[in-house]
Amino acid sequence: MQVNTLILGAGAAGLMCAAHAGPGALVVDHAKTPGEKIRISGGGRCNFTNMHTGSENFLGANPHFCKSALSRYTQWDFLDLVGKHGIPWHEKTLGQLFCDRSSKDIVAMMVAEAEAAGARIWLRTGIADVRHDGTGFVVALDRDGSRTDVRARRLVVATGGKSIPKMGATGFAYRIAAQFGLPVTETRAGLVPLTFSGTTLDKLKPLAGLSAEAVVHADGASFREGLLFTHRGLSGPSILQISSYWREGQSIRLEFIPPAKALDSLKAQRSRQGRKALSTVLSDHLPARLAGLLATESGLSGNLADQSDTALGHLAGLLGGWELTPSGSEGYRTAEVTLGGISTDALSSRSMEATAVPGLYFIGECVDVTGWLGGFNFQWAWSSGWAAGHHI
Ligand code: FDA
Repeated sequence: MQVNTLILGAGAAGLMCAAHAGPGALVVDHAKTPGEKIRISGGGRCNFTNMHTGSENFLGANPHFCKSALSRYTQWDFLDLVGKHGIPWHEKTLGQLFCDRSSKDIVAMMVAEAEAAGARIWLRTGIADVRHDGTGFVVALDRDGSRTDVRARRLVVATGGKSIPKMGATGFAYRIAAQFGLPVTETRAGLVPLTFSGTTLDKLKPLAGLSAEAVVHADGASFREGLLFTHRGLSGPSILQISSYWREGQSIRLEFIPPAKALDSLKAQRSRQGRKALSTVLSDHLPARLAGLLATESGLSGNLADQSDTALGHLAGLLGGWELTPSGSEGYRTAEVTLGGISTDALSSRSMEATAVPGLYFIGECVDVTGWLGGFNFQWAWSSGWAAGHHI
């Protein structure tokens, strides 16, 4: 069987590409339903884009690579599409746009768009082999218990990253890239809870379930969002965000109150409420259990009035910069994305086509472009899928 364009992966990027690749595209996926990650995303409401999307919201070896696709198919283009399909949505916070009803609205919209463009979608279809025979791509598919060879002039790899293997994530795209001699930058789990061990975990564990607002810093990046203590360490939006910047062995810094503000406030409280215990004073600023832990952590004892300026400075430093060293992350099992991937050095930023292998495209999460939490990863999937489809 012969097709113009064969798209591997019926996720966000593959479906968007199919909607723009012209008639006769075939999309294949080993899952039994298309867009499974769209369906489960955003707690079932899909944070489908972010109003503030810009290249600064993405990580990758080449920070400029994503600019072309993001500027040609923007968050507003996707919002127009959502509007055309009459899907109700709302802004939750920080420009993050969610469905009012269900993420299934976005899946149905993308399938309808792909089918309206003349694409066919084959589900429960495995990919046994991919090769180039000198004139085009030949892909052996396993479907309904039998093997079908599909010849395609263009092959688009949209099989995502390694995150959540239970959902069918395979890292397949990296194998195809390697097979065709394309470089792949080191991959690792991103947007993932951080774990701790030993005495640090012993300290944090009693706080499990508690949340607080914090600025979390690592490796020159910082995010002010919610933080959640878990049985294994730390999670919540600010931790997921910083996890994409954090590297094994590095520490992270939790800032609950800016240090200068904390010191001013502690000094003022010392003159007004000097007889109060340290943990009581801290619980004016923080949840009580966290206040208790930080008071212990400071090593100070006695009332506020007993503390010298130096001691208060030390305490303020802790409130404004508590250094902790994670032992690891929860890994691909729970990571929302995979950092790294197909090197952007090997791809055209306009079309996503491999410069050394004409007709071979990589789109979406498998490419070394990773967004922050907040709808940016879907926007990259839409924009890169559109760029490839438009070029085809
Ligand atoms: P995606 O993973 O969506 O699709 C790849 C497709 O390829 C899948 O359908 C898979 O079955 C198929 N496939 C893989 N290997 C195959 C093989 N060997 N053979 C055949 N088929 C194969 N982002 C965001 O912007 N907002 C959000 O709210 C969320 N929420 C969220 C929640 C959770 C729990 C996760 C895990 C992730 C998110 N994300 C997110 C991230 C977002 O889901 C992700 O970035 C996009 O789905 C990536 O789109 P792709 O099309 O590149 O891959």
